[in-house]
Amino acid sequence: MGEKRKENAAVISQEKLAEGIYSMWIRTEASKSAKPGQFISVYTNDGSKLLPRPISICEIDKEEGKLRIVYRVTGRNTGTEQFSRLGEGDTVPVVGPLGNGFPIKEARGKKVFLMGGGIGVPPILELAKQMDCEKKQIVAGYRDMHTFLREEFEENGEVYISTEDGSAGVKGNVLDAVRMHELEADIIYACGPTPMLRAIKAYAEEKNIVCYVSLEERMACGIGACLGCVCKTKKKDHHSNVHNSRICKDGPVFLATEVEL
Ligand SMILES: Cc1cc2nc3c(=O)[nH]c(=O)nc-3n(C[C@H](O)[C@H](O)[C@H](O)COP(=O)(O)OP(=O)(O)OC[C@H]3O[C@@H](n4cnc5c(N)ncnc54)[C@H](O)[C@@H]3O)c2cc1C
Ligand code: FES
Repeated sequence: MGEKRKENAAVISQEKLAEGIYSMWIRTEASKSAKPGQFISVYTNDGSKLLPRPISICEIDKEEGKLRIVYRVTGRNTGTEQFSRLGEGDTVPVVGPLGNGFPIKEARGKKVFLMGGGIGVPPILELAKQMDCEKKQIVAGYRDMHTFLREEFEENGEVYISTEDGSAGVKGNVLDAVRMHELEADIIYACGPTPMLRAIKAYAEEKNIVCYVSLEERMACGIGACLGCVCKTKKKDHHSNVHNSRICKDGPVFLATEVEL
C-alpha cells in the first residue's frame, strides 16, 4: 500500500530555544521527499508509549538528508519530554513524511500571509523558505517574549509578531497584528490551535480570500487507520463515505472553506 516504514533516525543535534521549546535536527530518509506542511511521527525509544507523536517539519535539507523539528515539551513523563533528552549520537524512531503539506504554487504573484500560532509556528519556517510570491508577510503569534525562530523568519520575509501578554510585538493574536499594521493579503496559509484557525477562517471569509489551514488535532496511529483524528468536512471521505476527513491522511492542510472548525 506504499505505507511508510519506521526508520531509526540519527539525532544530529538538539538545542533548547526557549523554556520548554526544543529544536532537533535528525538524519532521515524522510527528508528526500518532504514538503512544507507535512509532519513526521516520532516514537519514543523505550516502547513505554506505543503511539507516535506527530511533529511538523520545520526545515528540510535534502542535500544533507536531514530534517528539523521544533517542539514543546507538554509535561513531565510525556513523549516530548523523552525527545528533549536526546542528543547527538542517539537515534529516534520516526515515520514520514506524512500528510499532504501546503499547496505552495498557488502563492505565485500574490500577497501572502504566513500565519503561525504557538506550536503551529515551526512549519511556517520551511514554508516561508520555499514560497515564491510577490509579498511574503509572516505573522507569528506567541504566548510571551520567547519568540523562537524570529531571526530565521526575518531572513525569509516581512515579520510581524503578536504575544498574548504583550511582551513582544502587538498584544493579542495574529489577527490583532494584521489589524494594527494594516496588512493585506490575497491568500493565507495558517497553522495553529483551533480557536486561532477559526478566527482566521472567519477573517478570510469576510475578506473573500483563499485560506489554507493546517490542523493540529489529537492523533493516534498517524497513518489513516484508526479514525482517531477525524474532522467534519464538505467532501465525502471515500473510505467511510461520510462527511469526515482524517487529518493525518487527508490533511493536516485543508481549504478553510472545506472544514468545520
Ligand atoms: C499534524 C500535527 C503537527 C504537529 N506539530 C507539532 C510541532 O511541530 N511541534 C509541537 O510541539 N507539537 C506539534 N504537534 C502537537 C504534538 O503532536 C503534541 O504536543 C504531542 O503529541 C504531545 O505528546 P506528549 O508526549 O508531549 O504528550 P502526552 O500527553 O504524553 O501524549 C499522549 C498522546 O496524545 C497525543 N497528543 C497529545 N496532544 C496532542 C496534540 N496536540 N496533537 C496530536 N496528538 C496529541 C500524543 O501523540 C500521544 O499519543 C502537532 C500535532 C499535529 C496533529
Ligand atoms: S490518527 Fe489514526 S486515522 Fe488519523
